[in-house]
Parts: sequence; C-alpha cells; structure tokens
Amino acid sequence: MYSKKVIEHFQNPRNAGALEDADAVGEVGNPVCGDVMNIYIKVEDGIIADIGWKTMGCAAAIATSSMITELAKGRTLKEALKITRKDVADALDGLPPIKMHCSNLAADGLHAAIDEYLKEHPDVEV
Ligand code: FES
Repeated sequence: MYSKKVIEHFQNPRNAGALEDADAVGEVGNPVCGDVMNIYIKVEDGIIADIGWKTMGCAAAIATSSMITELAKGRTLKEALKITRKDVADALDGLPPIKMHCSNLAADGLHAAIDEYLKEHPDVEV
C-alpha cells in the first residue's frame, strides 16, 4: 500500500521534533481522523535555516512531515510557499489515494508557519 520511500521516511524520520528557538509554528489538522501536524521554522535572511515538526498521526502523516523538511530546508520563503501537496506526494513516490486527502497536510503546515512568520515580520517581503 505504501511506497518504499514512505516506509523509509516513516521509519527514519528527518528533522523530527519541535524547534526550541522556532520563529514560527504552523498547525494543521484533519478533523476527520484527528491527526495533527505542527511545523516549526527558523528563518535567517529570508531562508528557512532550520525546520522541525511534531505530528500525531498515521505513517503517511509522519512521512509527509519528514519529507516537507527535506524539500523546504535551505529554500527562500518564496520558494517554500510554492511547495505543493503534489510535490510532497511525488517526492514520496506517491501516496495511496485514500491518504492523498487525509494525510497530505505537510505543505499546508509549512505554508501556515510561513504565514505566521510573515504576520509577525511585516517588513519581510516575499
Ligand atoms: Fe488521517 Fe493519518 S489517518 S492523516
């Protein structure tokens, strides 16, 4: 059911855990299954210098959380805002159709964190 990449990221999640010195946090959840994802970002000179996450959810939710950190780390805020749910799923070699809608929340979580950051730093332009 899951691709090898999903299983690999589930078993060896990248950048797991909250960032103590995060500049912003984005929280998204799926009311249907109850999974919740928090994405933490540290921003330096308009670049996502560090990123972490805490997710209570299924294997796919863990894998998408892990993958979004690999896609976003080192990117500018502008580039990170362009990362889509499809990019995350593609980078994981796909997700089972039922999980596409349910668990593919990581891009939304990242965008929520960036929105939060921009709200608190109105001087930053993207
Ligand atoms: Fe819904 Fe995992 S079961 S996000």
